[in-house]
Amino acid sequence: MKFLVTAGPTREPLDPVRFISNRSSGKMGYAIARAALARRHEVILVSGPVCLSAPKRAETLRVVTADEMFDAVQSRIAEADALVMAAAVSDFKPASFAVSKIKKRSGFARIELAPARDILSSLVFPKKKPLVVGFAAETESLAENALGKLREKRCDLIVGNDVSRADAGFESDDNEVLLCFRGGETRLLRREKKTLLAKKLVKIFERMKENL
Ligand code: CTP
Repeated sequence: MKFLVTAGPTREPLDPVRFISNRSSGKMGYAIARAALARRHEVILVSGPVCLSAPKRAETLRVVTADEMFDAVQSRIAEADALVMAAAVSDFKPASFAVSKIKKRSGFARIELAPARDILSSLVFPKKKPLVVGFAAETESLAENALGKLREKRCDLIVGNDVSRADAGFESDDNEVLLCFRGGETRLLRREKKTLLAKKLVKIFERMKENL
């Protein structure tokens, strides 16, 4: 199979030295890319800014903003058998970009925000639609919110994680996820190393693709 995997955060610039972003480390997406490579799949990894080294056998496309991530995913989606949107894409961006550094004396009274592009919702899929896996980063009502995203985001599977925990989710080496399948069934994968979880997830993606 050919996997198109997104990972890490995006950054939305305010001026040449400042940006809005989030705490995503990219570890989960990179672990999925490595697990897919280990099972002899091809991988295109679309990565936001992270401190991780790119897996050697993946084709890695580096992006910064949500718009750049959208362009990279859209340009390669036709090749993909599976799209795994593990990236924590920014939902907001500064409404305007200041070409010169905003000076302290200007006061920073208020930063106006505009919505960033929702990649999953705005992608144009080819006729032969890939398996689409979204993630849900939640701090409350994990099952309810993840099932909601499954419907809204046209996904075959949502991998829900509770990002309010210190022992899993954002930045951690571990994760615990609630899988929400298109048919409405759910399955909990208990906390373990993201590398091990990624291996299980890739096998689940393979089986789902076979049955699409
Ligand atoms: N996502 C996306 N484009 C965005 C935001 C999110 O494609 N601008 C994708 C993520 O990669 C993930 C899924 O949508 O696979 C859910 O992301 P999440 O951050 O959990 O949800 P949001 O859509 O941002 O909704 P909310 O912030 O209200 O939870």
